[in-house]
Amino acid sequence: MFRYLIALSVAAVLVAGCGPAPQSGRGFTLPEGDVARGQATFVELQCNACHKVKGVDLPAAENATDLSVALGGKVARIETYGELVTSIINPSHKIAKGYAKEEVTTDAEGKHSRMLNYNEIVTVEQLADLVTFLQSHYELQPVDMTEYPPYL
Ligand code: HEC
Repeated sequence: MFRYLIALSVAAVLVAGCGPAPQSGRGFTLPEGDVARGQATFVELQCNACHKVKGVDLPAAENATDLSVALGGKVARIETYGELVTSIINPSHKIAKGYAKEEVTTDAEGKHSRMLNYNEIVTVEQLADLVTFLQSHYELQPVDMTEYPPYL
């Protein structure tokens, strides 16, 4: 019995210790978005001034910049919903990989994204649509695993 109690309290501590931190994004989800509306919003908000979306023909943006950060296409791992939302509402949180930092950031350390801040413009509905649109254009590319001979 005593042993059983110890095991139970150890389990309780472990479970509590592994729970999500209060700042965790766990449990976060937006209402369902719409791909076609998301594409229209992408153009309306002039996201295409700095971005192209693989496989999508977008009209030229009025205020086009020298930037052409590609969204969508083949990736080794699909960008999660949470990652895409974060890239839009908090772009400097994680800077896109594969670009020279002078190209995509405004500071020498490469910490501040050149992306515009839309937080006072974009509605929650537009955000849901944008993410649904972008997510539909990512394609999972299986990674070629190196094959190792069995270890004997
Ligand atoms: C002034 C240029 C500019 C505009 C306008 C812009 N972005 Fe960006 N965006 C960037 C740059 C530069 C990056 C790469 C640096 C970073 O990760 O923030 C980026 C990164 C992203 C990423 C992450 C890409 C990755 O591979 O990690 C997403 C998603 C994104 N933008 C979506 C949008 C959406 C949606 C809009 C319109 C609401 C928009 N952007 C408007 C410049 C812009």
